[in-house]
Amino acid sequence: MSTDFKSLQIENRVFPPSAEFQAKARISSMDEYKKLHAESINSPDTFWAREASELTWQKRWDKVLDWQPPFAKWFVGAKVNVSENCVDRHLTTHRKEKVAILWEGEPGDTRTLTYAQLHVEVCKFANVLKAQGIKSGDRVLIYMPMVPEAAIAMLACSRIGAVHSVVFGGFSAESIKDRLHDSGAIAIVTADGGWRRGKIVPLKPHVDTALSSGESNVKKVIVLKRTGQEIAMQAGRDTWWHDEVAKVDANCPAEGFDAEHPLYILYTSGSTGKPKGILHTSGGYLVGTYCTSKYVFDLRDDDVYWCTADVGWVTGHSYIVYGPLANGATALMYEGAPDTPHFGRFWEIIQKHKVTILYTAPTAIRAFIKWGDEHPNKYDLSTLRLLGSVGEPINPEAWMWYHTVIGGGRCPIVDTWWQTETGSIMITPLPGVTPTKPGTATLPFFGVDAAILDEDGNEVGPNEGGKLVIRKPWPSMLRTIYGDAERYQQTYWSTYKNIYLAGDSSRRDEDGYFWILGRIDDVLNVSGHRLGTAEVESALVSHPAVAEAAAVGRPDEIKGQAVVVFVTVKAGVQPSDALAAELKKHVGNVIGAIARPDDVRFTAALPKTRSGKIMRRLLKEVVAGGVVKGDTTTLEDFSVVAALQASGKDDE
Ligand code: PRX
Repeated sequence: MSTDFKSLQIENRVFPPSAEFQAKARISSMDEYKKLHAESINSPDTFWAREASELTWQKRWDKVLDWQPPFAKWFVGAKVNVSENCVDRHLTTHRKEKVAILWEGEPGDTRTLTYAQLHVEVCKFANVLKAQGIKSGDRVLIYMPMVPEAAIAMLACSRIGAVHSVVFGGFSAESIKDRLHDSGAIAIVTADGGWRRGKIVPLKPHVDTALSSGESNVKKVIVLKRTGQEIAMQAGRDTWWHDEVAKVDANCPAEGFDAEHPLYILYTSGSTGKPKGILHTSGGYLVGTYCTSKYVFDLRDDDVYWCTADVGWVTGHSYIVYGPLANGATALMYEGAPDTPHFGRFWEIIQKHKVTILYTAPTAIRAFIKWGDEHPNKYDLSTLRLLGSVGEPINPEAWMWYHTVIGGGRCPIVDTWWQTETGSIMITPLPGVTPTKPGTATLPFFGVDAAILDEDGNEVGPNEGGKLVIRKPWPSMLRTIYGDAERYQQTYWSTYKNIYLAGDSSRRDEDGYFWILGRIDDVLNVSGHRLGTAEVESALVSHPAVAEAAAVGRPDEIKGQAVVVFVTVKAGVQPSDALAAELKKHVGNVIGAIARPDDVRFTAALPKTRSGKIMRRLLKEVVAGGVVKGDTTTLEDFSVVAALQASGKDDE
């Protein structure tokens, strides 16, 4: 049986950028995009050398790329300091007094840091790290709330060549312990706590628990005071950020490091087993995040740019800290939850700070839709000029809502496909160029040679599904899995020789646009027909009663797999048998009888990772009737799974 599949989703809506947006954009015609893309693929050295030349190098490279598959070295022989590029580079320009970080705490407190002020803070904290004995190459774990000091700590590490590993502030002591063990970190930067949904999220106590077994290499813990509650401090090991900063000066020259010097390790969950430590290095990552931020967000000096991700995720690394700051942008950072103290908090922030670019995730967009239009409608969102989406396929109806209710029909949407591993955006519209269609990330970015292959490694035809791959190395690519080159090779480079396997299934439409159909492991196989989870889910979300949906396969003797869908409904809608029947019919009408769900289960919430991705793997275990035994450490709220298991029993 062929494992390739045909897409059944049809999308005819097309939204070209407005003439006004296009006229002002850096890249403003499809011809220009095509010319530059061809150059970036055929003469990558020329393209990337030109982009890199816009940045500050203490020594220029001898060679742009050294590719010994699957190991790449970019800007070979160059010396660079990433923090110098994100901060110092702007001090000799008009950007010196421009706001670099515009911060809003959940309780409503705000702070601004100009590039000049950020420079002082980064240099001081770099000196604190040095005073604590931290040297180039040492690993430092950062476990912080969304406060400016999280970015300052990252930049201070990069300034002295220390390798940071940021652990999302919502993760447990156990997750910290695993990451300490794997990275061999010798210091932790943390805070007493952070504010989320009106409550203190304790951080330092989790660090204490993680360190209590005494198995780590950690010698120093530096603690920022944010929430002010009583915490334990261990003499000799723990010190306060403010005490240490008071002891140092702001003189910390930026040393040049090899372009391939490690910048950070970021852990991401594999489908099974222990999290993978994705290693990014300095020069190529800097160039990749700089270049994508510049072109994809079309950054201008008067933009107020807001990426709503947490710095604990790659999106926060690349598109709150490194990319925007390398461009001298004003980056807004918000500490808290989107529903605190009310459902309009995001829109209030946009109105208050006159945000011009908003970059958020489909999971958030679906939550906003569920909460109702009256919340955004209360605020003035007219400063917005560009919207972005990342993290999951965006359901076409969620895209339409984002376009009309948030974007007022005037803002281009950049649906950006990329991964922790890719370091920067890979498939995306260019906002002044690409006619967008709801639900597709459209075309490859410069330097990205993306394709869709079948099992035999041949490119599939239009609208046929297959595996998404990248055929050429790119500057911000991961260099390895930390401490496990074998797993790196196996996971990404062994399915097809010397070709990067992204792990997503995808199709290309007749315009060459890429549609992500879901993770390879999640693809449904019904009576020999392969269906992407994203297609079934988007069909459900296009029904007016549905807020969010997840589709999984249940083993079925006759069909191979039966389609089971989990559905959350919009505020005010009552789940019922009649609605379930209607939804089955609706999917049948939208995609075809083959995709018609066998079982519709209503649920108050779907199990998600902390970064908001639906965990279909757990739902698969729930429908298979067994106990959920897979790794659930990244799950946001286990009670969601417990409730589904309990309800599943009555439901069968
Ligand atoms: O499945 C794709 C999905 O998220 C995966 C990468 O997740 P992570 O490493 O956590 O990075 C998220 C932030 C870049 C991808 O393999 N994904 C991400 N963006 C999109 C997407 N799926 C469809 N469309 C997107 N725009």
